Amino acid sequence: MDKIPKSRQTYDYRPAVHFTPPKNWINDPNGMVYIDGRYHLFYQHYPTAPHWGPMHWGHAVSEDLLHWDHLPIALYPDELGCIFSGSCVYDRENLSGFGTRDTPPLLALFTHHSTDESHMEHQSLAYSTDYEHFEKYYGNPVIPNSGQKDFRDPKIFWNPVRKCYSLVLAAGDHVEFYATHDFKKWDKTGEFKAGDHGLKGICECPDCFPLPTENGEKWILIISMIIAREQIGVNNNVYDRMSHLTQYYIGSFDGDTFHDTEQSDIPLLLDFGTDNYAGVTFQNLEEKVMIGWADNWDYANFAPSDNDGFRGKMTLARRMRLIQTGKGLRLAFSFEGIEEARAHACPLATGENRLRSQSFGLKITANGPGAILLKNIQGELLAIRITDSEIIVDRTEAGQDDFSAAYAHPAYGRTHAPRVLKEGTSSEIEIILDKCILEVLADNGLIPITASVYPTRPYEKLCLSGSLNAEYYTLT
Ligand code: FRU
Repeated sequence: MDKIPKSRQTYDYRPAVHFTPPKNWINDPNGMVYIDGRYHLFYQHYPTAPHWGPMHWGHAVSEDLLHWDHLPIALYPDELGCIFSGSCVYDRENLSGFGTRDTPPLLALFTHHSTDESHMEHQSLAYSTDYEHFEKYYGNPVIPNSGQKDFRDPKIFWNPVRKCYSLVLAAGDHVEFYATHDFKKWDKTGEFKAGDHGLKGICECPDCFPLPTENGEKWILIISMIIAREQIGVNNNVYDRMSHLTQYYIGSFDGDTFHDTEQSDIPLLLDFGTDNYAGVTFQNLEEKVMIGWADNWDYANFAPSDNDGFRGKMTLARRMRLIQTGKGLRLAFSFEGIEEARAHACPLATGENRLRSQSFGLKITANGPGAILLKNIQGELLAIRITDSEIIVDRTEAGQDDFSAAYAHPAYGRTHAPRVLKEGTSSEIEIILDKCILEVLADNGLIPITASVYPTRPYEKLCLSGSLNAEYYTLT
């Protein structure tokens, strides 16, 4: 493993309002659900070391999606294996029988990943009536594996056609749909293959849900993808530079399977940046709100962490809408939970501004090209540039990059996202920097770009140029 020189570990990278674990490793968000005013976030966690290992489900709750209380680990590995990604459902009608009508159970559907050389994956069930301590179902697995190598990450959703719950899970090059009436017995109803359109590869962490449009409802199928690459960065464009990307399809759901009726000639990406993977939505929430893992498998295990040894972070919660653009329907995103901070925004002057916090947001109206540059005393530079045709995030000079060849590769370091709005239209851009994580939602939320950055010192200056009106707010 590449080592970070000790002399450079001077800076505390723990974000103020992005979720991080108390200690050690995290990856995917799991089982996100909203119950009685609290958001529950479970997550892939290795509690004993700051690198990937036998997975557990960590657990935290929040009332505002910015500040989280850590709860005890929810699911530990057992004789069927370790605990890979999955989802929760608030079983309001007690269809499972694990609670009562007065105390509806919270159910977790997750992947048991066997730790022997078979690495077999099965889907299993656990339940809780205090929404904190879980009991695993004695009849696990509830969806056994008939021999597929990759068979994981069940995501439950309400099936309005069959009037029951369904789930979508990743099965190699495709996803599979299953339906149930009691969460214990599941019947397969259909499949959807990724890559007939869009990106081909191994599917992970799917999600499927409806969103309204002006012309009725459409369904979204999100799939995170492992893409075989001969070499990184051969084609320096956002569609084929990385080995892990999250794409989405737009279409319909007939009760059995998904159909991508709104086909696009380019893959639709959930994020154009390097650091947003395995994103899924909250259950039991009217709005569709997602959180992703704000890291990248190509370097997450080597990324600088702070002295507490936490490694990994989540994106902020993002609400999704479907918008008609000149290029067809597209997902547009807005941050959830920052409304109050944003209400205290103050105007920024064009030119150089002194930065007083490393956790802040910018609310920008771009009436033409421009740039936002963040600089520190070490000469490090994080640049966000708005041109007529692209939104560019350039972190190639932003700080530490010697911990991984992939991170340091210019194809990863510079994100060029093609613009969606017509030239000459003014564009709303929200930018959040929170210590080691940059999130940009440009062109009214149609262009999300998430990137990890590791400055060796705080950025002290923010330089604003071009046709931009910007307001600044602090996040604490
Ligand atoms: C995605 C993933 C999932 C799996 C989990 C293991 O990042 O590979 O497919 O369940 O991580 O930690």
